[in-house]
Amino acid sequence: MKQFLTLNDLPDFDAQVALAKEIKSNPYQYEQVGRRKTLGLLFFNPSLRTRLSTQKAGRLLGMDVMVMNFSNEAWAIEYEDGTIMEGLRSEHVKEAAQVVSQYCDVVGIRAFASLTDKEKDEEEQVLQKFIEHANMPILNMESATAHPLQALADALTLKELSLPKRPKVVLTWAPHPKALPHAVGNSFTRMMQHMDADFVIANPEGYDLDKRITKDIPVLHNQDEALKNADVVYAKNWCSYEHYGQILKTDNTWMLTPDKMALTNNASFMHCLPIRRNVVVTDGVLDHPTSRVIQQANNRTFAAAAVLKTLLS
Ligand code: CP
Repeated sequence: MKQFLTLNDLPDFDAQVALAKEIKSNPYQYEQVGRRKTLGLLFFNPSLRTRLSTQKAGRLLGMDVMVMNFSNEAWAIEYEDGTIMEGLRSEHVKEAAQVVSQYCDVVGIRAFASLTDKEKDEEEQVLQKFIEHANMPILNMESATAHPLQALADALTLKELSLPKRPKVVLTWAPHPKALPHAVGNSFTRMMQHMDADFVIANPEGYDLDKRITKDIPVLHNQDEALKNADVVYAKNWCSYEHYGQILKTDNTWMLTPDKMALTNNASFMHCLPIRRNVVVTDGVLDHPTSRVIQQANNRTFAAAAVLKTLLS
């Protein structure tokens, strides 16, 4: 595997989840794999889990880790070729990527969607320009359209739950005051296509995800209907894909509440975090013993370690 941009890059999805599980059972067993190798983590957007868990994953493999936050620590980067760089951007990606390549053996990049230009977001310009000009593996730490490290961690979490043989898993849209990207919803959907489950997506009208990703997965516009007998409920907000970047629904009727969860088969509640309490989900659901959000965050470390190990080999 030369890059990890989406789950489709994995040579073997099941083997990767199994490797994450194996590393979790004995975290330092591959401590020699990354010895004298350097992991660079470049953040163009904020993070808590990804930043800390990926650093920890690198250290489990014996790597040195360097982190840079581009919002306040680095020169602003220009990505367009042939630009007269008279504005605020001081450094071109052509030099930046080559320079970083000299210091690092693997580089992780977080670069969210702008949500103003669908075509440009789907080009994944930041990742693609680094790939074009760098000569080392690139690890997607959440891009405009994908968050595969989160999805891999979520797969590990699902495998750890005591679920029926073919569980019903519901990815449900939930309210949020800000327009959020589609990356988590896209990658969770891609991941569920590898699982033996009855997978359903629930979202209001106008919020259907990219059909090239959802394919023939059932999409319901009635949340209560979708939640009936669910074994797992994964909540996430995203803005409209069709009316790109827009918020179409502002009421809280899709917030996850104990009444909504009562429709399920005592479902596990999942969310990638961060989460706005009593906006996306009520305290009663998030603090309930069936909430798996902390377990999911823990699994980020082992998913990242598994991917780094595969990239290094
Ligand atoms: N879930 C997730 O990616 O969290 P952070 O944005 O804090 O990294």
